[in-house]
Amino acid sequence: MSFDQRDTPYLDAVLRYRATGYTPFHTPGHKLGKGAPERLRGLLGEPCLQVDVAMAGGVEDTRESTHLIRLAEDHAAEAWGSDRCWFLVNGSTSGIHSLVLTLCGPGDEVIIPRNAHKSMLAGLIFSGAVPVYLEPDVDPLWGIPLTVSAEAAHRALAKHPAARAVFVISPTYNGLGTDLGAVAAVAHAAGVPFVTDQAWGPHLRFCPELPVDAMTAGADAAVVSTHKLISGITQTSVLMARAERINLARLDSMVAMTQSTSPQVLMYASIDAARQQMATRGAELWRGAIQQAQWARDELNRLPGIRCLGEETFTAKCVASFDPTRLTISSHDLGHSGYELETALRDDYRIAVEAADPLNVVLNVTYGDSHADIEKLVAAFRDYAGRRAGLAGGGSAAPAGLLAHAPEFTRQVLSPREAFFASSGALPLAECSGRVSAEMVTPYPPGIPVLGPGEAISDEIVAYLQEAATAGLKVHGPEDRSLQSLRVVA
Ligand SMILES: Cc1ncc(COP(=O)(O)O)c(C=O)c1O
Repeated sequence: MSFDQRDTPYLDAVLRYRATGYTPFHTPGHKLGKGAPERLRGLLGEPCLQVDVAMAGGVEDTRESTHLIRLAEDHAAEAWGSDRCWFLVNGSTSGIHSLVLTLCGPGDEVIIPRNAHKSMLAGLIFSGAVPVYLEPDVDPLWGIPLTVSAEAAHRALAKHPAARAVFVISPTYNGLGTDLGAVAAVAHAAGVPFVTDQAWGPHLRFCPELPVDAMTAGADAAVVSTHKLISGITQTSVLMARAERINLARLDSMVAMTQSTSPQVLMYASIDAARQQMATRGAELWRGAIQQAQWARDELNRLPGIRCLGEETFTAKCVASFDPTRLTISSHDLGHSGYELETALRDDYRIAVEAADPLNVVLNVTYGDSHADIEKLVAAFRDYAGRRAGLAGGGSAAPAGLLAHAPEFTRQVLSPREAFFASSGALPLAECSGRVSAEMVTPYPPGIPVLGPGEAISDEIVAYLQEAATAGLKVHGPEDRSLQSLRVVA
């Protein structure tokens, strides 16, 4: 079937609903804004409140009709090159939960990158599956994880022939791409599905100058966050899959289990509109964004003490591609941490970044940025670099030493699910060696877990975490973020 990608069936239905002017005896209680508190009305505006309805509230009908949503999803399936798509209102997070629950049951092994997004851990806890890790290298200068290699996937599959699937992240948070075609070939040769967490790549499919997207490269399923880099509103994502190696009926049930039963129709309408925009104008829009980002990168790299990550940085064999619209910027050479840089940009220049860590800030450039916006960014950095010149040494210390000797994965004593439900208690970090962790511990940088639930804690891990605590690294996951104690299985 071939659709006209200019059509927007769901966006049209939502606009029709508003234009018709129904008297609502359905959710939400504010009744299309009429009863909403004044300041909320001011915040959202009448046009938005008048379509703040859940799917059953009349945009289709109350007989659980899903014709329009399915039609919009089928347009998206064609646009992203899959057999079936699902619009998600709980982010790519819920797409990953759905995929893990579809592909793995209790005790099943699944091959995943060690730096998988935390939604993967929840997927493992929900399903009872056991992870087999692919370890990405870390770039010591930038403190960021690189990608995983097809050779590593091959070795893991040879060692774990019963594994149920191979997952990778591509592109990474910093825009680095895996050799997707090679990993797909390795997974398919072993007879298992290949899934890509493409949360940061909803745009790739639509512009030939961007890295190849997962479905083109042979993935069986992928999840993309339409809210991250294209025009879906926050929380919207798309899950896509091919029928050959994935049970689409089961995946459909899992999607239903992981989504709200009251999806907001504005979310669906925004995914529909974002898909249409990409399918009809994506190449042109992203070419413009690539040029803007490249201009910014070149200008930033000319400033003393400022570095902006680019393609040339990666000689590592396993980094197959780079999304030039992601700007990872370091002012470390000026003696400022990423956090301090973030604060300076926000307070002194009114520039809000996507993320910061001890070494870098990360910024997204899209078709939504005007050249004036990019010039403002470069001018802010120029001013900042000028002000900081000669002050080097004032900022936070680089955790370079720590990055160079991350401890080895020990062994999975219990599945993440068993560890999560086991009785556990907090123990002083110094006494944790030989115990089994009940929680995940991920220091930033580089954002790769040092421990997951169910893993044996070694002397080396304790020493590393003590060092990380002293260096003041930000740690995600544990109950005690100061790392004075860890939660261990009783
Ligand atoms: C690699 C990766 N996967 C999945 C997710 C989850 O995406 P969402 O925020 O759409 O739930 C994120 C979020 O940042 C991510 O970075």
